[in-house]
Amino acid sequence: MKIGRLNHVGVATPDVEAAAKVYAELYGATEATPAKAFEHLGVKVIFVTLPNMQIELIEPAGADSPIHKFLERNPKGGQHHMCFEVPDIIAARDAMVERGATVLGTGEPYIGAHGVPVIFVHPKNTGGVLVELMQDPALYAGEGAH
Ligand code: CO
Repeated sequence: MKIGRLNHVGVATPDVEAAAKVYAELYGATEATPAKAFEHLGVKVIFVTLPNMQIELIEPAGADSPIHKFLERNPKGGQHHMCFEVPDIIAARDAMVERGATVLGTGEPYIGAHGVPVIFVHPKNTGGVLVELMQDPALYAGEGAH
């Protein structure tokens, strides 16, 4: 298993609309999706689209949001994770386990905000960086495909 393209960098923020405005006004990154809440993931997201990747702006939604703890430590927000595409998410998960890394949650891939299966690898395995691996959308035809 070898990771592929950088798909997006996740940035936690207390307010996705305000954060998107900063990227638009400061950096001219005006191509952004409308804010969308993903109840089951506990997040509200805006994707800012750049020529080679996206910035995933993430705001907590709901009391159980996985972003709450991060914002407690970083009240103004900050870089949260980076996400790489893999050709086969199950093979990637198995490789992580085989190589001694800790896959967060149940260890089973689940459908993320991009509509494809993802896993997260514990930051302790990557020098403090939370890594998301996502099924390459071009190679995915399952539920939620678009
Ligand atoms: Co992500």
